[in-house]
This record gives sequence, C-alpha cells and structure tokens, in this order.
Amino acid sequence: MGKFRIRGGRRLEGSIRVIGSKNAFLPILAAVILTRKPVVLYDFPRLADVENMLLILLSIGCRIKRENSTLYIDPSDCSSWVIPDKYVKEIRSSIVMLGAVLARMKKAVITYPGGCEIGQRPINLHLQGLKQLGVVINESHGYLECEAANMEGADIHLDYPSVGATENIMLAATRAKGRTVIRNAAKEPEITDLQNFINSMGGRVAGAGSNTITIDGVETFHETEYTVIPDRIVAGTYLVSAAITGSEIVVENVCLEHIQAIVTKLRETGRMITPCKGAPVESVRIKAPQHLWAIDHTKTHPYPGFPTDMQALLMSALTVSKGTSIITENIFENRFKHVPELIRMGARIRTEGKIAVIQGVPRLKGAAVAAGDLRGGAALVMAGLNAEGETIIDNIRHIERGYDKLEECLRSIGADIEKLESD
Ligand code: EPZ
Repeated sequence: MGKFRIRGGRRLEGSIRVIGSKNAFLPILAAVILTRKPVVLYDFPRLADVENMLLILLSIGCRIKRENSTLYIDPSDCSSWVIPDKYVKEIRSSIVMLGAVLARMKKAVITYPGGCEIGQRPINLHLQGLKQLGVVINESHGYLECEAANMEGADIHLDYPSVGATENIMLAATRAKGRTVIRNAAKEPEITDLQNFINSMGGRVAGAGSNTITIDGVETFHETEYTVIPDRIVAGTYLVSAAITGSEIVVENVCLEHIQAIVTKLRETGRMITPCKGAPVESVRIKAPQHLWAIDHTKTHPYPGFPTDMQALLMSALTVSKGTSIITENIFENRFKHVPELIRMGARIRTEGKIAVIQGVPRLKGAAVAAGDLRGGAALVMAGLNAEGETIIDNIRHIERGYDKLEECLRSIGADIEKLESD
C-alpha cells in the first residue's frame, strides 16, 4: 500500500498535459467486443481501473498488445460470456461489460457489483432498461444470468439520467432488432465519446449529449482506430492544484466545453482562467491570486451541471478561501469521506447530510491522512500542496485508480511530492 509524501507551500509553474478520460475509456473498452475486427486505441491512460478492464477483455478471449500509449486489441476470438467475479468486485464500473457481452454473445453471467466507497451504487436502471430490450435476467446467489437471444428495440425512459445505465443500454441496443430510444439519458461527454466510438465501427447511434438517444441495431461492425476525449476531471484537478497554491500554470489537452462548469466555479473564487489562443492542442491558462474568495453555494448535478467528481477537489480549494462556502452533494450519498481528513489538516468544515459548510482558513497544516476514495484522495493531495509542513497520504491505491502517476505529473510543475513504497 503506497503513500505520498508532500511538502506544501511550493509555487507551481509550467504546463501539464491531461490524459485520456478514464470514464470515456472504460465503456469504450467494453464496446471493443462489439466488433470481430482489430481496434486501435490511442492515448490510453495507465490507470488501475483501465488495467482491470483490460484483464476482463483478456479473460473473455481478446488479444491485446500495447505500445507506449497505444492499445492494439483483437476481439475476433471472444468466446466467453462469463465475466470473472474478481474483476467486477475490483471495479464496479465493469458492470458496463454486461451490455457489450449481451450484444456480442447474446448471453452473459456477471456477479452483482457491490456498492463502493461513495455509495450503494444500485443497478436497477441498468436492469430495467435491458429487460425492456427483451433480455431475460435471472438473479440468483448474487449472480445475474442473462439471456438475450432476441433483443428488440424499445422506448426506454430512465427515472434518473444514470451514466452507467445509459451506457449499458446503448451497448446492448446496438445489436437489438430495430430502433431503441433512451429518454432522460445521461448527457455526460463520455456518453458522446462512446456514441462516436460505436459509430466509428459502423454503429448507428445518434443524440448523445442530449437527453434522448436513438440506437438502430446493426448486424456487424468493422475495424476502427480511435482517440478518447481528454479527462475533464483530471483537467479540473490540475486547475485546482494551481488555485490552491496561488500559482500560474497551463493545462494542455482539454476540451473547454467539457470543463465549463469547473472553470466557472473556479473563476468565482477569483482565479483567472483563459483559453490559450493558438496553442497546438486546446489548453487553458490559470492564474490564481494569493487569496481566494469563498463561493456561496455549489450543488453537484448531472452534466452539464457541476460534476460530483469535482466536489472534493473544489472543497479542498475552498478550505483556504476567504469566507464561508456551502457545497451540496446531490449525486452520491456517501461522498464526504475526505472531510474528516481535511479537518485533520486544519480545515474548518461541518457536514449535515448532503450539505457541507466550509469556513476558510489562511492555510492548512501538514498531517498524516488517508484516502477513502478516488476523488477524495486527490483532494487530500491538493490540500497537501497548500499545507504548511509535511503531509503523508496513505491508501493511495484509491488515487491510482484514476490518476496516471499523479506525483510525477505534479512534480513536473514544481510540487514537492514523492511516492513512498509501502513498508
Ligand atoms: C459514473 O458512475 C462515473 N463512473 C462516476 O465517476 C461519476 O461520479 C458518475 O457517473 C456521475 O457522473 C464511470 O463513468 C466509470 P450514475 P455511475 O449511474 O455510472 C444512482 C469517478 O470518480 N443510480 O450516473 O455509477 C446512483 O446510486 C467515478 O471517476 C441508481 O439509483 O453513475 C447515483 O446516486 C465515481 N440506479 C446516481 O444514480 C442505477 O441503476 C448516479 O449514478 C444507476 C444509478
């Protein structure tokens, strides 16, 4: 179990490049098995969650070769429809394999994914949508045994715009007879990226990015090469690293449209964030004043609202702002695990249910803390960059699920951070 050691107070400078989006890559890796032809994926992020999904693809018969940040996948010999428990238990987002395996194999067996650090994470909307496509699902002894011999297009309304349910239904519907409509669909950019990937293989999906997506089933898919969108949460994380240290940096390889809500919030605290005109890749420059202003009230919402994945990161910046800020976490029921750890570092935060009240302090103090989940762990790294003295962060495996060598990236712009191998 590795740890990070951070000595805070350093000004950051220079530029830092954002990797491909984890949450775009995971459903796209599932979609790879829709075709029997070779697939090439560029700019793939080296993340624990991505490695886990690659192990699932290998276990069901795909052949994978990697060269630097390019993946060559041959899904022609996919033969198994049983998704191994150990991988599903490792990352619950592997549930999105269900829709893809059903589309390819017309049957699937997968263990019921448990909850995780941030909430109970039910999959009722996934299963309701799949059943409307004609998938027969037998839930027994913790397993979902699914038959999808005769999937037919359906008109599906999601009670909640679930990202995972939208992805799972979209994947299965690519091989259903006729047209499927998903209403109240999730509008996250990662859904649009999945649509574009599926269409690059010959699929017929339209409407992603809006709340109504149509999928026309097709018989076969062809080969493709694809580059996923940049990770908007990693981009937001780098922006917060500059904000919390009063630095000026350039964040490269962003999609400005995808980070609008994040940029708007950070501007409210007094940061200057401007697009870099004429840069070879879309980039933004952030210039943070010495002191940051509190933000009256931030509420997390589905895209294009302020993303729940940025809640902990924004909170870390607000702990050292002038004034009192309120954050309401509307998406997950247990996403304040970083709060007690930030309090150990001198932050003044009170929580009541899904509301957190943050009273800014001039500066945090280094302490021994522990990551409880992916984004909460990243928030502790941000806090350590500000804190006076040394911060030790334990359980960094959570952080490594979503950030590719975060310590090396932050060191490249001047942070004093190193990874301590577990004793
Ligand atoms: C995706 O999770 C992301 N993960 C999450 O990112 C992200 O926080 C979340 O979307 C919201 O944007 C991946 O893309 C791999 P949801 P997902 O289904 O699909 C409820 C990170 O840090 N719900 O939109 O699980 C659910 O309980 C991760 O990278 C049901 O009730 O999110 C939650 O309250 C964390 N029934 C809400 O919807 C269902 O069947 C949002 O869940 C499904 C979901």
